[in-house]
Amino acid sequence: MKDSKGREIDYLRLSVTDRCNLRCIYCMPEEGIPLVSHDDVLSVDETIQLTGIIIKAAGIRKVRITGGEPLVRKGLLDLLRGVSGHHPEELVLTTNGLLLSGMAPQLAGAGIKRVNISLDSLRDDRIRLISRRDISLEIIENAIASAFDAGFGPVKVNCVVMRNINDDEIAEFIKWSGETGVTVRFIEHMPSMLSDDTFVSRDEIIERASVLGKIVRQDDIGTAGIYTEEDTGLTFGIIAPFSDPMCSSCSRIRLSARGTLYTCLAAAEGVSLIELLRGDSCDETISKLVRETVMRKPDSHGGCVHAKMWRIGG
Ligand code: 5AD
Ligand code: SF4
Repeated sequence: MKDSKGREIDYLRLSVTDRCNLRCIYCMPEEGIPLVSHDDVLSVDETIQLTGIIIKAAGIRKVRITGGEPLVRKGLLDLLRGVSGHHPEELVLTTNGLLLSGMAPQLAGAGIKRVNISLDSLRDDRIRLISRRDISLEIIENAIASAFDAGFGPVKVNCVVMRNINDDEIAEFIKWSGETGVTVRFIEHMPSMLSDDTFVSRDEIIERASVLGKIVRQDDIGTAGIYTEEDTGLTFGIIAPFSDPMCSSCSRIRLSARGTLYTCLAAAEGVSLIELLRGDSCDETISKLVRETVMRKPDSHGGCVHAKMWRIGG
């Protein structure tokens, strides 16, 4: 459907859990997040039902499964099979990759077509520092290989750029993407528990990439600006919510694991649908509320992004 600004809303990001097996410094506090009781989270059946209502009500074509970390969600495969049954044109997933190697074939069987994998450094010591867990590049490279084996290509790798933490690795990442066959996308760090000094702008990312050669901008793909180094043809993306806000062409809405619908990262409050779903409301009542909420999608995030990424899936 079109919202009040004429934007075509056809993309649902579905967070299936708040929980995660990592504690990335820009996303979660070290001690983790307050645990929600299971009663406050949509069950697998409720998620499937509510997703179906939203897909129909808004005319959703693409669904991305997010978290927290979606692969830690119990019953994920049943959930995916149910969502696949609503026949979105695209069903894709974002993961930190830790559990992907063991699950990729089953995910493909349940209808997943592509995956994005998060990776913020190529150096084991930094990977451990950023994720606060004892993991390594090897685990993520195995995850990438299993993603290609399962037919999830093209595989995108998302890297949040942080000053004095990993901003010296941009050129290295681009070269590595050429070797592994993934597309790397650098993401401007959004305000989080890290200080604002951590922010690195799109222009600075391009400048850092320029040590490889002349960088030219191609046509955008979705929210990412696409850039190519002229001589080698190495290509990468930059997602720049601040330098290049794409709000005027934003097609997204988000459903949290608690059954709250959000229409923007800047919207601190969403619209809770879980009580309606569990009460006597019929599907039409919920559909109507979904459509009204989409209509009220804010014009832009206005630089004010205070979302909890682990709740609404980045
Ligand atoms: N800034 C930018 N991206 C973030 N993500 C989470 N927190 C932030 C943040 N503060 C995104 C990253 C990560 C995904 C799970 O969520 O892309 O890879
Ligand atoms: Fe987990 Fe992703 Fe948050 Fe890292 S960024 S703690 S992997 S949800």
